[in-house]
Amino acid sequence: SRPRVWVSQPLFDDIVGQLAAHCDVDAVAEVTEHDPAAIAAALREADGALVTLNERIGAQELAGAPRLRAIANVGVGYNNLDIPALDAAGIVATNTPEVLSETTADLGFALLMAAARRITESERWLREGRWKQWSFSTMLGADIHGSTLGILGMGRIGQGIARRGHHGFGMKVLYHNRSRLPETVERRVGARYVDFDTLLAQADHLVLVLPYSPASHHLIDAAALAKMKPTATLVNVARGGLVDEPALADVLAHGRLAAAGLDVYEGEPAVRPELLALRNVVLTPHIGSASLATRRAMVQLAVDNLLAALGVGPRAGHPANPVTAKKTTAIAGQ
Ligand code: GLV
Ligand code: GLV
Repeated sequence: SRPRVWVSQPLFDDIVGQLAAHCDVDAVAEVTEHDPAAIAAALREADGALVTLNERIGAQELAGAPRLRAIANVGVGYNNLDIPALDAAGIVATNTPEVLSETTADLGFALLMAAARRITESERWLREGRWKQWSFSTMLGADIHGSTLGILGMGRIGQGIARRGHHGFGMKVLYHNRSRLPETVERRVGARYVDFDTLLAQADHLVLVLPYSPASHHLIDAAALAKMKPTATLVNVARGGLVDEPALADVLAHGRLAAAGLDVYEGEPAVRPELLALRNVVLTPHIGSASLATRRAMVQLAVDNLLAALGVGPRAGHPANPVTAKKTTAIAGQ
């Protein structure tokens, strides 16, 4: 019989519609904040689910879902899914790597430039009618070209940022990761491996692009921030939980870090008032992969993954992009 699948949010109808050729689809029509009970109810009769990072799924949500076999996450990060609980229940989880790497690297660079060159702060100042107060030292920022770029986490997104910095802006690129890249790859992206403390101390601009897990929780805490240059920029396009936000707000407020560009936060969609109050932080609402082409490619890949994992349609017998408990614990260490 046809599998039943739950689609948790409105995505792209023409792409999600492909599921209907092979499955009975229960698709949520409006943007919805699902609480745990609503997720449990939606999964009760489902064989598969297509979800976004806003749906948190663990043992509690799975308890009454005996038929569930596959969850396709529309996103590369999958900290919204309790992978050990899914593994224990025999449920395959998939994500959407690769298709969003270059688009997210673009946003990382955009935030870096906006923060270092004070672009959004300048625009607010102009709109406030303050140009008549202009002086030669108005909005002095930090150079990007020729500076030292630090990258924490060197997956595909990190490599994309390294290439942009090295080839486009003549930056010296340093990185830290749980494992070193092969030398041929290091040469291609123009990046040199250093230990965590060296990365913190030498980066003029530091970009976070590593997966979030309990092991990487608050990797950038007060102690790490204290090792950075007071003139440095911090950019986070990965997950909010990597950064101790009160500690970050504190160094930004007291001139111990020049600027930050954040696309992700600990309590999304809430943003801490301490961060909102600062002029030297650029804030975007988790739009790393938000180009039209890339968001469509992510949904297409998630649909393909779900059909493959359920073993139906043209994707039957093709590999999905399964994630495993082992991969979630593998993070950039110190
Ligand atoms: C977005 O944050 C993603 O993980 O794809
Ligand atoms: C994403 O694809 C990453 O590995 O950074």
